[in-house]
Amino acid sequence: MTNSSLAFLFLFLFCSTLTAAPSPAAAPLLQGTAASPAPAGAGPPNVISILNKDGRFTVFAKLLQSTKVDASLDSQLVDSNNGLTVFAPTDIAFSNLKTGTLNSFTDEQKMELVRFHVLPTHISASQFETVSNPISTQAGGNADLLAMNVTAVGSSVNITTGETNTTMSNVIFDDSQLAVYQVDKVLLPMRFYVPLPPPPPPPPSPKKPSAKAAPVYVAPVESSAGKWMYNYAMAGLVLVVAALT
Ligand SMILES: *[C@@H]1O[C@H](CO)[C@@H](O)[C@H](O)[C@H]1NC(C)=O
Ligand SMILES: *[C@@H]1O[C@H](CO)[C@@H](O)[C@H](O)[C@H]1NC(C)=O
Ligand SMILES: *[C@@H]1O[C@H](CO)[C@@H](O)[C@H](O)[C@H]1NC(C)=O
Repeated sequence: MTNSSLAFLFLFLFCSTLTAAPSPAAAPLLQGTAASPAPAGAGPPNVISILNKDGRFTVFAKLLQSTKVDASLDSQLVDSNNGLTVFAPTDIAFSNLKTGTLNSFTDEQKMELVRFHVLPTHISASQFETVSNPISTQAGGNADLLAMNVTAVGSSVNITTGETNTTMSNVIFDDSQLAVYQVDKVLLPMRFYVPLPPPPPPPPSPKKPSAKAAPVYVAPVESSAGKWMYNYAMAGLVLVVAALT
């Protein structure tokens, strides 16, 4: 072995000990980014800074900010003990959407979309094996097409919304309050694609001609009633005028 290849070997060993530095216990899921522990005494973790620190979630971070959902997540983390779970789609996930998808959403839909990526409780990667489906999101409950199903076997966690199927691919962050997971597709809620049910029909009008009857012209009730009232009023006016003269 030459000197330079020996030096290279040492450098390599040195670097691998550096990168293999203490891996926190909180990352039972998959290979990849180890969960970063919350810095001691730094207060509750902040979703935006976690995403921006990683660097691959800039579109999602901007959406969280433009919809102001980030502020409500921050205050939920302070006010509630339930914690939060965030499915963060990568920038590549957003660029893989059909062209114009995001722009076709109204502001309200963008907010709903962002909230759809947040679960109102902290769910650790191993807990996904036992959650019951469908899972409510911050956008809505089980029954309104704003929920998702998660199936997990060991370290493989699949998510389906009915519109999007994907896999949870990494733990970005997990303390006991906030879990941020990477997803490689934007989770689209069914609600955006299933037409809302039509508004309830107006109450039946009291005098509906029977469907079987031959089409007979029926004078509109209101107008004949109106005519009677008009006649009475005119008669009264004539009487008053007559009495005065
Ligand atoms: C997740 O989806 C993949 C692809 O559809 C499938 O092969 C796998 O069995 C699924 N895993 C679970 C845990 O459902
Ligand atoms: C989610 O799971 C529920 C209950 O198992 C099922 O009724 C529903 O069809 C599933 N939805 C999707 C989108 O897979
Ligand atoms: C998602 O997966 C389910 C079950 O594997 C499949 O029936 C469905 O067609 C898939 N949906 C999409 C949008 O890929």
